[in-house]
Amino acid sequence: MPATKKELLSRLNKNFARLSPGGIRAFDYQVSAIPGIVKLTLGEPDFNVPDAMKQAAIDSINANDSHYAPGTGTVALRKAIAHFMSDRYGLTYDPDSEIAVTVGATEGIYASLSAIINPGDEILITTPTFPLYMAVTNILGGNPVEIDTSKTDFILTPETLKAVLASHPNAKGIILNYPSNPTGVTYTHDQVQALAAAIKDTNLVVIADEIYSELVYEGQHTSIAEFIPEQTLILNGASKSHAMTGYRIGFIAGPADLMKSVSAIHAMMVTAASDPAMAAAVAAFNTEDGRQATLEMKAAYRERRDFLLGALRKMGFEITSPNGAFYVFAKLPAKFGDDDVKFATDLANNGQVAVIPGSFFGAGGKGYLRISYATSMDNIKTAVNRIANFVEEAD
Ligand SMILES: Cc1ncc(COP(=O)(O)O)c(C=O)c1O
Repeated sequence: MPATKKELLSRLNKNFARLSPGGIRAFDYQVSAIPGIVKLTLGEPDFNVPDAMKQAAIDSINANDSHYAPGTGTVALRKAIAHFMSDRYGLTYDPDSEIAVTVGATEGIYASLSAIINPGDEILITTPTFPLYMAVTNILGGNPVEIDTSKTDFILTPETLKAVLASHPNAKGIILNYPSNPTGVTYTHDQVQALAAAIKDTNLVVIADEIYSELVYEGQHTSIAEFIPEQTLILNGASKSHAMTGYRIGFIAGPADLMKSVSAIHAMMVTAASDPAMAAAVAAFNTEDGRQATLEMKAAYRERRDFLLGALRKMGFEITSPNGAFYVFAKLPAKFGDDDVKFATDLANNGQVAVIPGSFFGAGGKGYLRISYATSMDNIKTAVNRIANFVEEAD
């Protein structure tokens, strides 16, 4: 007798049931249907891929680079990444054994978490957070432990970490993401150093998602691997720094012994990234054109950020200074209370501006909005006028 639909559904991986539904995409889909809506929801650059990167991909296609690439990526790209990590962050990685090219940082998250999680393992996740970390930890049978950072300006302090470890002494890993999606907040050199010192005494594996490292506006990005390279897997890639989200090029860098397992899992999932996209990433990470493209985009983001920040603060939103990425995480003015889903829904329906409710990003996000400035200045100006009218008219 054929299995009924109900029986087949009962065969699905039980961990799916632990996933909260993808709030961001569903919300974005729903509000996108509103006529005339201006969207400040997107988590990807609005720029085109720079010409030199496009040309490198075209040249690769014309050279018939159409076969399986080495699992951890082409030698040229691993060398380009090693150069980039050394030049930009003072970090030394062996291209042969300590770097793997992934299909976006997204695959890097899955491969690195798969390498460390056994069912029941606890993974510390600072929140508000990029939701994928929780989802992947859950699907692998791990248990996410949320660390709410909203009371410390979205920075994990050594004191908070020590307190969390006292009640979760067997936690296997910790995920750090800075500059942060959704808050735009990043760690200073001293903050990273202090946190690294607290982690050094533990057996935690650090998964450091530094995908926004090239978008730091004042000062320089400091990688946590500068202090604790032996226990850190860095995730990064070309998606945000070079507006190459659709090319799907990320990478993981870490100590050779950990990278062996991570690279094996990566190869089981995808074999390798695609050759033309890797050729484009070589141009991104290892040429003057690539560097200039990032600097030009960064200057535009910075101008937008400053405008948006000033305008929102004038309207009564409280905002911890976002020094990186392309998000502002704004606390609702007191008269709106802390129902961010209601505010964002009403703003979309009645004010024709779409932003993402902060509670979609986990503990500490309630009462906030994530506002992306990865859109044109014209859109941002229109949105700001509309938000100002909406806030003023509400009583
Ligand atoms: C913090 C963070 N990590 C990873 C990703 C995914 O990057 P990729 O497009 O390279 O997979 C994103 C994308 O929004 C992100 O915000």
